[in-house]
Parts: sequence; structure tokens; C-alpha cells
Amino acid sequence: MTSPLFSDRLLNWFDQHGRKDLPWQQQPSPYHVWLSEIMLQQTQVSTVIPYYHKFTERFTNIATLAQAPVDDVLALWTGLGYYARARNLHKAANTMVELHQGQMPSTLDELIALPGIGRSTAGAIMALAHHQHFSILDGNVKRVLARHSAIAGWPGNKHIENKLWLIAEQLLPQNRIANYIQAQMDLGATLCTRSKPNCTICPLNADCKAYLNGNPTDYPTAKPKKIIPTRQSHWIVAQASTGEILLEQRPSMGIWGGLWSFPELDSATDIDYTCSNRLSVNATNITSLKNIKHVFSHFKLEIYPHLIECEINNNYIAENKKLSWYKINDALLLGLPAPVKSLIESLQ
Ligand code: ADE
Repeated sequence: MTSPLFSDRLLNWFDQHGRKDLPWQQQPSPYHVWLSEIMLQQTQVSTVIPYYHKFTERFTNIATLAQAPVDDVLALWTGLGYYARARNLHKAANTMVELHQGQMPSTLDELIALPGIGRSTAGAIMALAHHQHFSILDGNVKRVLARHSAIAGWPGNKHIENKLWLIAEQLLPQNRIANYIQAQMDLGATLCTRSKPNCTICPLNADCKAYLNGNPTDYPTAKPKKIIPTRQSHWIVAQASTGEILLEQRPSMGIWGGLWSFPELDSATDIDYTCSNRLSVNATNITSLKNIKHVFSHFKLEIYPHLIECEINNNYIAENKKLSWYKINDALLLGLPAPVKSLIESLQ
């Protein structure tokens, strides 16, 4: 006996077990779907939910997002990581105001032309917000499809990815496209998980090749291992006796672009010189704080913070908009990388 269509089984499963109470499902406008899909890239639902609420309270629509200073957008992104997502969101909102009368465009190609929107995110917006027949291929869906068809090879490889796109498109149902796309993501997040898939209760197990072969966790093939380098960074944590701290806004390109951080050096030997020349800080005492390790996708960062006790001196820095003294409570309202935020909180 042949099993019912892949999509019918998935939709039946969705009706019983799928997620229907996520905040962005309550108002699935193109703006809300877009925002949630960007936040959910590389980030789990439980982490995203509080950020989503704060963001949508402050930026109720595309126009308010476009009008806001990018620093306000970054401030609400603090702690969520991958900050290029926030900068691209802001850029894309401005493009929509300039080119699309402040609306999300409603074709796949126009969506992909916007910063930060790739084919899968565009597909999700087309399906979830516009109810159009488009597939997606995020990490969860790649896993479900690679297992179901036993597709070997790392999906980051274009050739494998193209095979998976083809399968994704062939499996699309005639009806209920939005529920179907959500069902694929939910199945990947809850049953067809990376290390412990719950195959015995999976609605797709009757013809899942990986399950029938007894090796579901062999799919998808893992990314080839690459040793990532470690970089050292020294932070000048200048704090005045009155409590203020000296922060510097990072260049918009590169890690933590546009966020506020402590002035940074490659080597501890330059601390005295940098304090007196670049920062006009006269240290009365210098102590090393506990070091911090932070892992990025392509390198590890070892951070050595140096607490510099000093008095506020605005020589040199007054005209430098990228360097400024802040009271701790004001600093905590800026866009800050997570380790900077924790360190500032520890100085209170
Ligand atoms: N991950 C990416 N998009 C998602 C969505 N719409 N719901 C749950 N998890 C997701």
C-alpha cells in the first residue's frame, strides 16, 4: 500500500502538533513575517520571542523602522547576535519606502533584491504572508528532506543544495501552503531533530529512506571541519571615579559593526600610550579583569579587559562622535555586543 502524499501526512501532523501560537502567527502581515524570519535565522524561537515583542512595540511598521536611526535598531538587537541582520533590516525598510511605497514587495525576485533576504527567507515570506506556492530551505527543512530522500553530501555545497531545492519544490501541496511551510519547520524543530530524531512517531517514516536504512542521523552530512583561528583583543575599560565609562562606536563594517564597545587594542604593551594619546585618559590605577572568551563563526576571540581608574577628560574626544563617556544606565541603552553588556553590568 502506498502512503498518502507527503504533504497530506505533514499537514495532518501539523493540525495536531504544529505550532499555532507563536507571536508572529497572530498577525501574519508581510512586515511581521519578514521580521520574525530574519530574527529566526540562526536563532531559536525561545530566544527570539522577547526580542520580537520589544521590536514590534517600538517599530510598529515598515515606515517607523525606516525612519528610526540605525543605532536605535541595533540597540533593540543587543544580545541577539549577527548584527548585520539588524543593519540589513533597516536598509531594506528604507529601500521599501523609496521603491515600494513603504510596502513589502510581493514577488520573490523583488524580495531577494532586498538586503538580508535570501531565497529561503523570500520563499517563507511568499508562502506565510502572501499564501503563494514557494518552498523554503532553512536548516530544519534541509535536514527533513535530506533524511527523507537520503541525500548524502553537505547541503552548504551548491550541488547538494540545488538537489534539495528541487525536492522541496516537487513536494509542495496544492492547498494550505502557509500551514505546510510552517509544518516543515516545526517537524524539523521538534521531531526530526539533529541528534535525537523521534522517528517512530514521525508522519513521514513510512517512506523516509534514512529511517528505513537505520541511519537518520547520518543526514545531512556535516560541514567539513575547519580549524578556526583565535584572536586576542585588549579592552580599555576606563571608568571615572564618578562612575562614567568611556565607550567607542565600532566601524559599521566588521564584527559588531556599529555597536558600542570598549576601545580595543591588539596588544597590552600599548595601553599607556593609547590611554594618554588617543583617549586622553590619565590612569591612576590599572588592573586586569577576568578574561572573556567569545566564539564567532570564523574565529575565536579572547578578550583581556583592563580596568583603568581615571577622571573624565574630554580633551581630544569632544569632537570625536565615536568616542564618548556614558553613565552606566545610559550606556546600557546603546547597541552593545553581549560581552560588553555583561562587563558594563558588572561595573555597576
Ligand atoms: N524558524 C524559521 N522560521 C520559523 C517560523 N516561522 N516558525 C518557527 N521557527 C522558524
